[in-house]
Amino acid sequence: MDGNGRWARERLLPRNSGHKEGVKTMVRIAKACHELALPYVSFYAFSTENKFRPASEVKGLISLMGRIGEVSDELIKYDMRLNILGDITYFDERTQALIVESVQKTSSLKGGVVNIALNYGGRDEIIRAAQLYRDSDGSKHVEEFLYTAGQPDPDILIRTGGEKRLSNFMLYQLAYTELFFTDTYWPDFSQEELNSIIAEYYKRDRRFGK
Ligand code: FPP
Repeated sequence: MDGNGRWARERLLPRNSGHKEGVKTMVRIAKACHELALPYVSFYAFSTENKFRPASEVKGLISLMGRIGEVSDELIKYDMRLNILGDITYFDERTQALIVESVQKTSSLKGGVVNIALNYGGRDEIIRAAQLYRDSDGSKHVEEFLYTAGQPDPDILIRTGGEKRLSNFMLYQLAYTELFFTDTYWPDFSQEELNSIIAEYYKRDRRFGK
């Protein structure tokens, strides 16, 4: 969800206003995915590296996590289950409790899954899965220890804000994902643009290396 900071700067607003607007876009796009009957959608909200941003921005981002309860209330309207990717023990106890409660509220919903990556890093996820696999009885595939256990690999990755890199997102799962990059800042990302990316996706020839 890149471009929140630049969206805010162009409006002479503090960076965190851009992140606040980004939460609205996240809910709007989750709703769009529900309407398109897309069973899984993932949002990269806070990476393991984001905590090294200036303290005021990190504080603002963590306080924005407090909105997770409102986000999950919206997801309930769309029958979507909230799932968190990442190590939430980094957050303060109040934020952790809110996240857990927000996940639980949606746990029985069957209309789709919304993954939100919080204190998530693809390399961390792979190392964690390898360690859990090492300590297991070996009966499960290593993929079963990823945060996305039980979910298919993503078909589409969209990065907004003009950067063309993965920035430590789903490094294992993205092996054959179709990548899309747009200059649109995340707060301006719309259902129309999502539709046109999906149309473009259907024109691509996916061979999975075969
Ligand atoms: C990247 O834009 C965006 C982020 C680091 C934060 C995204 C987080 C949210 C939208 C809030 C999540 C909240 C909940 C409740 C889950 P950037 O800051 O790198 O923008 P820039 O590239 O323009 O500087």
